[in-house]
Amino acid sequence: DWKMDAFVESTIKEIREKVGDGKVLLALSGGVDSSVAAGLLSRAIGKQLTCVFVDHGLLRKDEGDEVEGVFGENGQFDLNFIRVNAQQRYYDKLKGVTEPEAKRKIIGEEFIRIFEEEAKKIGAVDFLAQGTIYPDVVESGLGGESAVIKSHHNVGGLPDFVDFKEIIEPLRDLFKDEVRQAGLQLGIPERLVFRQPFPGPGLGIRIIGEVTEEKVKIVQDADAIYREEIAKAGLDREINQYFAALTNMRSVGVMGDFRTYDYAVALRAVKTIDFMTAEASEIPYEVLNKVMNRIINEVKGVNRVMYDLTSKPPGTIEFE
Ligand code: XMP
Repeated sequence: DWKMDAFVESTIKEIREKVGDGKVLLALSGGVDSSVAAGLLSRAIGKQLTCVFVDHGLLRKDEGDEVEGVFGENGQFDLNFIRVNAQQRYYDKLKGVTEPEAKRKIIGEEFIRIFEEEAKKIGAVDFLAQGTIYPDVVESGLGGESAVIKSHHNVGGLPDFVDFKEIIEPLRDLFKDEVRQAGLQLGIPERLVFRQPFPGPGLGIRIIGEVTEEKVKIVQDADAIYREEIAKAGLDREINQYFAALTNMRSVGVMGDFRTYDYAVALRAVKTIDFMTAEASEIPYEVLNKVMNRIINEVKGVNRVMYDLTSKPPGTIEFE
């Protein structure tokens, strides 16, 4: 795509002119926008860029390693990559907390605190980079990756406590599909470029009630199976958002000769344009049935799988 090629080239040039020999700090979430911003900045200024990636232990299965694989030391980009393994720290903070907004608050505040700690270690930087895209700028971008970045990075006023001179937002004129094109152009893997929206609080709001390490593992495994089967069925780019959630319900089942008393997993899949309204996707029954069978057989601690038919409104896309 020559237009994207031109955008990438001219933006790299602009970044170089603006940054000079300055230092740039970016909070990398592994979402599309911050990843593409990281890719662009890396191509422009290499090691003058430091990316801080906080693994809060509420990411999807293997996602932390995937992000590190692309942007870390053995990845394809020249930059300083800092992965903060804060999993335990989050699990401790979330212990006993059941209320959705309280969980969101803890997860958001902890992110700010960790980012602040890392920023202090790095010292003063000249620029704070953000993956802001055009819909964020006009503030019509509710939901989706842009909202993910927003809630992660702006709520609580991230820029206030990091010692920097100026914000740099290389994607602020682009729409989502253009950001994806730029990402492909930069050689960011397709599975990252076409990632579906993932909320900032991550699995923290896909585990109804208290979050524990054990529950995170269950929902990660169930969700990975679901995503694998959706992709195999060729539906992954058709459904706008789909995921497994762990309900807080345990119920009785039988497994061989044994009675079980385990969790119910809820499957969610929606078609939506703006994430303000949505409808449940009509996933073929065979696909749902296969997902159900695999989750029951492969994920310990689950003995029931349900499909959520609710539209938004009155439902929301997430369960919390
Ligand atoms: P709901 O559940 O409100 O979700 O229908 C609409 C879109 O927003 C995402 N979402 C969030 N994103 N922080 C985020 O960054 C949040 O706390 C949050 N809650 C919901 C959700 O994934 C969907 O795309």
